[in-house]
Amino acid sequence: MIYDRAFFDNPIDRNGTRAAKWDARQFCQPGDLPLWVADWDFRCAEPIVEAIQKRAQHPIFGYSSGDPNDAGSFCAYWKRRHGLDILPEETCMLPCVVTGLRQTVLLFSQANDPVIIVTPLYGPFHDSINRAGRKILAAPLIPREDNGYDLDLDLIEEHLKSGCRLILFCNPHNPVSRAWRKEELSALVSLANQYDAILVSDEIHADFVYKPLEFIPLLSIPGSENCVISLASASKTFNIPGLQQAMAFSKSKELLSKLKAQIELQGITSGNIFALAAAQAAYTSCDSWLDGMLEYLDESRVIIKDALAEEVPYAKLAPIEATALAWIDLREYAPTCDELNKKLRASHVVLSSGTGFDAKLGEGFMRLNFGCTHANLREAIHRMSDALQK
Ligand SMILES: Cc1ncc(COP(=O)(O)O)c(C=O)c1O
Repeated sequence: MIYDRAFFDNPIDRNGTRAAKWDARQFCQPGDLPLWVADWDFRCAEPIVEAIQKRAQHPIFGYSSGDPNDAGSFCAYWKRRHGLDILPEETCMLPCVVTGLRQTVLLFSQANDPVIIVTPLYGPFHDSINRAGRKILAAPLIPREDNGYDLDLDLIEEHLKSGCRLILFCNPHNPVSRAWRKEELSALVSLANQYDAILVSDEIHADFVYKPLEFIPLLSIPGSENCVISLASASKTFNIPGLQQAMAFSKSKELLSKLKAQIELQGITSGNIFALAAAQAAYTSCDSWLDGMLEYLDESRVIIKDALAEEVPYAKLAPIEATALAWIDLREYAPTCDELNKKLRASHVVLSSGTGFDAKLGEGFMRLNFGCTHANLREAIHRMSDALQK
């Protein structure tokens, strides 16, 4: 199979497949073009489909048992793609990354404790803190002239000085599509060490950093050994989030064994047999699919930039350094997400409201998921242009 532009251009009808993106009627109606939830409209790599088909041919779907290659293939992949030395015994399987966020909050903080997050940020971070009865201590990103954002390390330090001991971090950042630089990550790790805090790094978008930038795992930063737990998954990278499988990994035996104990206590089990088969295939045999998708998405970035400039000229696009998600300031067209949504829905295009990432900072912003064909991406921007006529 050749994973070239023609492969990713190929439209796949997902209607009626229980795809949340296309079929969840509370979000999306027939005829709408959905560019919201972060899964991609691309056919999976052939080795994944074959691995699932092969397992499905056996007619008994009993309890699954682990296999050294589950963690082994994950570790080899992170070494090959990101240069990270991580051992199977430094990993812990999870059903999904959000489970990792929820459980680390419960484990490493107490009721009413503050937890630091960098906002605007993927909704389940907020949710993991609120639902656990902890308090969000936000360190809002600092907006730059070029519509990009920087970390507010001074504010993070103030929060740590005030006694906060847990930071949930998103590397790279969803929704502002920022790839953090080594200096920024080093500064964050130094702060965590200085104030004896724990850093949980959601690295689910690790594989989506565009050249010439490169993804830097937080665990590759000196000093991260005792204070960092990272979370990742094949789900986003290889478009298999419906299968549900993820990994936590850390150089700290203490943090990892506490997490394992917490997961057991909560009765959280992983190891869906199809997910296990798919993840091994993904981590061992799908690099050419991934490289093809990244080239395709790199072209998508150019399409978004050019088409918005031409058709939605008052839109302000954050520079897309990472992820398949574009963060767009549409406040020149309408001040609130409610108003923007009314207009966009009338033109049958569905994006994610910025307020889902921060009630205040996201107001008037939309997140556009460009994990779709170039044809649908162009069509979505035409529809945005129709919707947002000034
Ligand atoms: C930053 C981030 N973390 C976690 C998730 C969800 O991961 P999972 O399905 O493994 O819980 C997403 C999905 O969009 C995400 O963007």
